[in-house]
Amino acid sequence: MALSGVPMLGFFITALLMRLQESEAIKEEHVIIQAEFYLTPDPTGEYMFDFDGDEIFHVDMEKKETVWRLEEFGRFATFEAQGALANIAVDKANLEIMIKRSNHTPDTSVPPEVTVLPNKPVELGEPNILICFIDKFSPPVVNVTWLQNGKPVTVGVSETVFLPREDQLFRKFHYLPFLPSTEDVYDCKVEHWGLDEPLLKHWEFEAPTPLPETTENVVCALGLVVGLVGIIVGTIFIIKGVRKGNVVEHRGPL
Ligand SMILES: *[C@@H]1O[C@H](CO)[C@@H](O)[C@H](O)[C@H]1NC(C)=O
Repeated sequence: MALSGVPMLGFFITALLMRLQESEAIKEEHVIIQAEFYLTPDPTGEYMFDFDGDEIFHVDMEKKETVWRLEEFGRFATFEAQGALANIAVDKANLEIMIKRSNHTPDTSVPPEVTVLPNKPVELGEPNILICFIDKFSPPVVNVTWLQNGKPVTVGVSETVFLPREDQLFRKFHYLPFLPSTEDVYDCKVEHWGLDEPLLKHWEFEAPTPLPETTENVVCALGLVVGLVGIIVGTIFIIKGVRKGNVVEHRGPL
């Protein structure tokens, strides 16, 4: 019996080591994607690098310069924007061939899914950022507008370029810095060729749900009841005890 335990232990350790190696192999897997597109009729080109789903940089086609997602990336890496422009020129030529070959068949539209969420837990009066996440759409053409109480706002807004997805669809983020208040309501308005009408995603401040407080009150009330019952029962026992004691005392001398 004791001996059979040893190989069993050995098996478990081996299995554990294999599991560890497996998970390490997965952990070290990173993917860099070079994504580019060119599209008409409103000619737009994009050239960007993606690391595990985050943008490293893109090339500003008008200014012909590399734009790092975080400024500090540019301190330890360089990218020659001219290379991107050469690629886009090839993409443009290829698209012209494809348009002819496909007999001017346009791309099918896949409408986006839109989510609006704050950057961090919302506290009234504490500056925050609203994020509009536009996901799973194609082609990469959208009009996005932030609305504050129904009116367009542009102060402080920013956005990412179109980010690639593994399924050939796109993702994009729009940001709106704001000061949370109980009066203001917000919408992220998204227009896309795959949508029949503009899609509005609403966000407004919501007071924390009163449920935890109710639970607290119930626990407090129960505690109070148990305490009171304890006091009453205790008092009864003390009274009984005192009476019994008196009886015993009375009997004593007898
Ligand atoms: C974006 O807005 C412009 C101007 O209003 C319009 O011509 C274009 O069709 C819109 N694009 C989309 C994808 O709805």
